[in-house]
Amino acid sequence: MNHLGTQTLETPRLILRKITLQDSESLYKYASNKNVTKYMTWSAHKDINETKGLVTKWTQQYEENTFYHWAIALKETNEVIGLIGIAILTDNTLRAELGYWIGEEFWGQGIMTEALNKIIQFLFEKVNLNVICANHAPENPASGKVMQKANMLYEGTIKKSCLLSNGTITDRVTYSITKEDYFNNNHYVSDNCIIKALKDRRSIRKFKSKMIPKEIIEKIIEAGLYAASGHGEQSSIIVAVTNKEKRDKLSKLNSKIGGWGETFDPFYGAPVVLIVLDKKDAHTKLYDGSLVIGNLMQASDSFGLGSCWIHRAKEEFETKEGKEFLKSLGINDEYEGAGHCIIGYIDGEKPKASPRKNDRVFFVE
Ligand SMILES: Cc1cc2nc3c(=O)[nH]c(=O)nc-3n(C[C@H](O)[C@H](O)[C@H](O)COP(=O)(O)O)c2cc1C
Repeated sequence: MNHLGTQTLETPRLILRKITLQDSESLYKYASNKNVTKYMTWSAHKDINETKGLVTKWTQQYEENTFYHWAIALKETNEVIGLIGIAILTDNTLRAELGYWIGEEFWGQGIMTEALNKIIQFLFEKVNLNVICANHAPENPASGKVMQKANMLYEGTIKKSCLLSNGTITDRVTYSITKEDYFNNNHYVSDNCIIKALKDRRSIRKFKSKMIPKEIIEKIIEAGLYAASGHGEQSSIIVAVTNKEKRDKLSKLNSKIGGWGETFDPFYGAPVVLIVLDKKDAHTKLYDGSLVIGNLMQASDSFGLGSCWIHRAKEEFETKEGKEFLKSLGINDEYEGAGHCIIGYIDGEKPKASPRKNDRVFFVE
């Protein structure tokens, strides 16, 4: 490591420099905004003296060449609009953890990314660090976007490890970039939380009998109702079966259709069965219902619940018994089954995804 302390750095729009007492006013203006500190571990500054006290402390710390704490100043006006610096420096592994913020007025303009990229460059090229990381609260995905744009990779999420200034304990989402990736100019498009969730979902085939709270079932169903539909018809409907007797009857019916007799439970012990039906005359029936089931499975996974698509709904609701079941709910012959999404608490380990098959993608460029 080659410690250099807080050296002045320049980007197209910014000067990254040591903070001085003269910057206290502008720093206070932005640091006293509760929107800025909402997902921070420190509270909004209550008065200018608090800001001045901190600035005084930092100006003293600048005497140490191991102290890295930059004011983010606009080149045009020299106004300080935020801070960026190393919060934790682990000497033996040469790993630094960065912290940063800017005033609300400057969000969404790429300013933080500009500052972060410059700091990363300085810390790798001049200070010779091994790895640089940064954390954000999951409730503040915009901060994660800044990390992604600075070519940092998602490292992991440490559950309930961060106490926010408002007293809430939340997860700590960590991104990092290594020296090797920086110098080899390896550019990654990191998995964001949606892509990660899509890749993490798995079909579950062993469930605990414990019932899921209704509010969660309703949330999952709501996600299903937001699926795309041909012509925006929204013609798919969902029947949520939580009644054990009715669920068992459907299971028997489904098993019979599948050719397993009545001893096998094709719902694998799941206590909740969401039946998705499509209107027979809908332009894109089946496609619409399939998307609904996709959403239901994904939403279930987001709650840590297991789910699986169970087939044979079409045949099920063509039987006399199936039709009677629907009729008892006021659903007439206009509908046909698309599939079932079974949901429940996972009994055992969630399986890993099987490797994706090759040669399934064609680019026309
Ligand atoms: C149209 C469709 C029908 C399915 N039917 C059943 C079924 O009847 N029983 C079952 O156990 N799994 C069923 N599955 C789940 C698939 O077997 C599962 O998605 C596949 O093995 C891949 O596993 P994964 O979902 O964990 O990626 C079905 C999936 C789809 C998309």
